[in-house]
Amino acid sequence: MSEMNAPVTGAVVVVGTHWGDEAKGKFVDLIGQDADVIIRYGGGPNAGHTVIVGDTTHKFHLIPSGILNPRSLCLMADGMVIAPEVLAREVATLREHGLSVENLRVSQNAHVILPYHRKLDLLEETAKGEGAIGTTGRGVGPCYADKASRIGIRMGDLVNEERLRERLRVVLPMKNALLTKLYGAEPFTEEEILAELLPLADTLRPFVCDTQALAYDAVAVGKRILFEGAQATLLDIDGGTYPYVTSSHPISGGATIGTGVPPTAIGQVLGVVKAYTTRVGAGTFPTELLDERGERIRERGHEYGTTTGRPRRCGWLDAFALRYSMRVNGITGLCMGHLDVLAGFKTVQICTHYAKNGVKLAHFPTGDVSLLDGCEPVFETLPGWEEADWDRMTRFEDLPANAQAYVRRVEEIAGIPAVLVSVGPRRDQTLVASGKPAPRELFTLQRPQVFGAPALAPIPSHVL
Ligand code: IMP
Repeated sequence: MSEMNAPVTGAVVVVGTHWGDEAKGKFVDLIGQDADVIIRYGGGPNAGHTVIVGDTTHKFHLIPSGILNPRSLCLMADGMVIAPEVLAREVATLREHGLSVENLRVSQNAHVILPYHRKLDLLEETAKGEGAIGTTGRGVGPCYADKASRIGIRMGDLVNEERLRERLRVVLPMKNALLTKLYGAEPFTEEEILAELLPLADTLRPFVCDTQALAYDAVAVGKRILFEGAQATLLDIDGGTYPYVTSSHPISGGATIGTGVPPTAIGQVLGVVKAYTTRVGAGTFPTELLDERGERIRERGHEYGTTTGRPRRCGWLDAFALRYSMRVNGITGLCMGHLDVLAGFKTVQICTHYAKNGVKLAHFPTGDVSLLDGCEPVFETLPGWEEADWDRMTRFEDLPANAQAYVRRVEEIAGIPAVLVSVGPRRDQTLVASGKPAPRELFTLQRPQVFGAPALAPIPSHVL
């Protein structure tokens, strides 16, 4: 068989199942060791991923965690929004650590976050008053808004001085009118923006190219492709808890929209879930623990934002939201992390449903954010587990019996098998259950025909 006709192995997508910070970076890093191409498909410097390899901690906001694998091509695809100064800094940091960036490519179609986006992000948040979303303030929302309004500036424009000047001449007067007339803020001059951007363009030019074509060629010759999700399902602009969401598509579908790779190339979707749930920023969070139990999870789990340092809100695992996440992403396997953090609780709880005015909801409510207000979580209580020697564990079966039972119960509720379980930040603190595929096998697994647990309510016959 010629290389061009080789069978397409299934790409693997890694997504966050809740409101972000599920520690996807660790799993991407692990599975990415066997990937030929690692692609980040959405979001921007609002993300933050920490990967610990040996004694070194790496923190990235833009560059995919996959960069640590020198064997794989690392793409920042069309769906991303890129702050050039952050990217240039991350490239410099990697080089300082003696790590190669030879394998990094940035899409010419990714949009550029400009100084006015950051300013507008902060001004818009202030203008929203009580309704503020609690954005990361990195200009992400205003940049995606310009993309949709077709007044964005793309990486391909950034690295072409003539085109950059042309675009700025059209866009900047509109942005300055908004800044000065609506918000009474200072305008930007074309010169100051160019003075900041042109040197950055020189640094980044070698990386900018047609990543769609690279990704497609990799699919066509059967390379092992890993899509690295940023943010998470409930922050999706359409499927999330709008308006308390980000402005991109973190769900698995974003992996095709944001890269140009067709959906048929995807084989597995891994949902990364913590043993508990966290949320940063505003918005209803039904399983939130506002007492010392939440505090204990936050301290033990180091639940402080990588990007903003904000303390994360912590609560019991929301498996009702997990079922929704399974549905919109088509999750085929769970990667469950932070099991060690829950050690020491006499009992632990899992939210299986929400109830509103005493009635169990059939589906996780996303249509109208007010539907989530007043939802009471319905919990199932399970026995907790004691501290264990988390450093020495190598197999799922080494976990305390109650921790194993907890994972099994989550699998049952979600209707999805757990393929990897993590008990600490290091690569080697990841456990594979016997009978489950090893990370390298994920790329060649047959896509299962099951769609997880069925929806709770039968579909009314008049709808079908
Ligand atoms: P933005 O993405 O900065 O516009 O923020 C919108 C919402 O998404 C806020 O509630 C943020 O806290 C949240 N958010 C954005 N990125 C992340 C992330 O990587 N982890 C968790 N929350 C995030």
